[in-house]
Amino acid sequence: MASQLQASSELGSVGVADVYSDFGRSFERFNTRGQELYLHWAPLREVPKGFSWLKVFYPDLFPEDDHVHFEHVYGEALRELRSVTYRAVDFSSIRRVLDIGCGYASDLIDLAKNHAHLKLDGYNITLAQVEAGGRKVKERGLQDRVRLFNRDSSKDEFPDQYELIQAFQVIHHIEDKRGVLANIQRHLANGGLLVASDIVSTVDETLRHEESEAHLLPRKEWAQLFAEAGLRIIGCVDLSREISNFFDDREYDASMARLKQNITAAESAFIVGPHMLGKLLGTGLAQYLVLTLQKEPFLSRDILLSMNQRYLDAPQAYADIVAHADAEGRFPLEAPRSASTAAAVRSTQSTGGLSLSADPAQARGQLKSFLEERIRKVLQLAKEDTVAFDSTFISLGFDSFTGLQLKNVLEKELGVSLPMSQLFEDLSLDAHVDRMLASVKRAAPAAESPPAATEPSLDVDAMSEDEVNARLQALLKS
Ligand SMILES: C[S@@+](CC[C@H](N)C(=O)[O-])C[C@H]1O[C@@H](n2cnc3c(N)ncnc32)[C@H](O)[C@@H]1O
Repeated sequence: MASQLQASSELGSVGVADVYSDFGRSFERFNTRGQELYLHWAPLREVPKGFSWLKVFYPDLFPEDDHVHFEHVYGEALRELRSVTYRAVDFSSIRRVLDIGCGYASDLIDLAKNHAHLKLDGYNITLAQVEAGGRKVKERGLQDRVRLFNRDSSKDEFPDQYELIQAFQVIHHIEDKRGVLANIQRHLANGGLLVASDIVSTVDETLRHEESEAHLLPRKEWAQLFAEAGLRIIGCVDLSREISNFFDDREYDASMARLKQNITAAESAFIVGPHMLGKLLGTGLAQYLVLTLQKEPFLSRDILLSMNQRYLDAPQAYADIVAHADAEGRFPLEAPRSASTAAAVRSTQSTGGLSLSADPAQARGQLKSFLEERIRKVLQLAKEDTVAFDSTFISLGFDSFTGLQLKNVLEKELGVSLPMSQLFEDLSLDAHVDRMLASVKRAAPAAESPPAATEPSLDVDAMSEDEVNARLQALLKS
């Protein structure tokens, strides 16, 4: 796990088209029963007994399992997800649709079948998928309405103007997010809609998994990028729990062992990505969101940014949306929040849970016991295990995944940012505590009411620890 998940941009890119070509070879070879091939995860409210996403994606390799049932569960879940995704779209007023990472063109084919007036374009960086998708389009006699292009959505100008653009599990693969969003901005009609399903990092760093070409950007950066592209979020649904259920596979090791006998090393490295994503979603380090955005060319970037942030900070739970279907089965853009989901939103927003003493020695002791307790929890240490403060995080057994969990706790509960690169420095826990105290010290005045522009800025480093702690106390009480 440690070597797989990278929270920095140090590793070079292997190219998403290569990754998908490798993965696609086995996916197509061992998935010969499905009518359409979707490269999409499905939201499961419950995990059926014996379910594994590997069994759904590679059914021919698991002949003894109950495919009909699992494929049915997957198909229904995906259908429900698409209804939620398109819930704001009035297709009668849409003429042209673009899918910016169209896989095997399955969603375009579905739209073409359901709405005979639509003209649909698909971009896809992976040639083999475009060729396979093109064959399917032709077999279904849709070639006059569905065009597929083997192109890069972040670089190659889209061929037309559209009222609806869709991006299903694509943008996290694209490093140049600004490039793809600018392309969308140029080719989406004013008032037009972008619907997207994607994964965001809930910590303040981009999470990377090079083998599956995933670059999960922090939420606040998404808010900024959308605002820069003149896009306003009008709907935001959190499916993290349901998608993490999709990856909840008690027989993962056994299934992977079987799979590995039939696929290449690159393909199995790719599959680790989704499996790890399930863990990130389950532990709250990443969020899976379905977003509805509207092109707003006349709103200022600042206004768009604050609106976008508000939606991303408090997404609606998928369970709440699907619980409020109308008599015709249509889902609302927003729904009343159930008590449990409202509480969950509050807990993800809370920062600064620890109130440090004004006394420096006491503050240090408090921080150490806070840290020890959180380390024990994240590493699941037994009572008799010791947490020595002269050891490093690595020697305690932290890897990139548990490191991220701790980082998340520190950000949420202490308001302290701990870059992953620092966490894995050859530094004792004691030295980290010093750094954290200093960083809490720096954070305190900034979090207070900002001084008037004419006031001299506060020289925090010149303040005594007592003064800083006193300010921090006041802040935490306010
Ligand atoms: C997870 S799959 C999703 C496919 C499809 N949207 C679906 O839901 O089945 C991601 C797709 O995005 C494509 N893709 C990734 N980066 C791209 C880029 N820069 N331009 C166009 N397509 C891209 C991949 O080839 C792949 O088909």
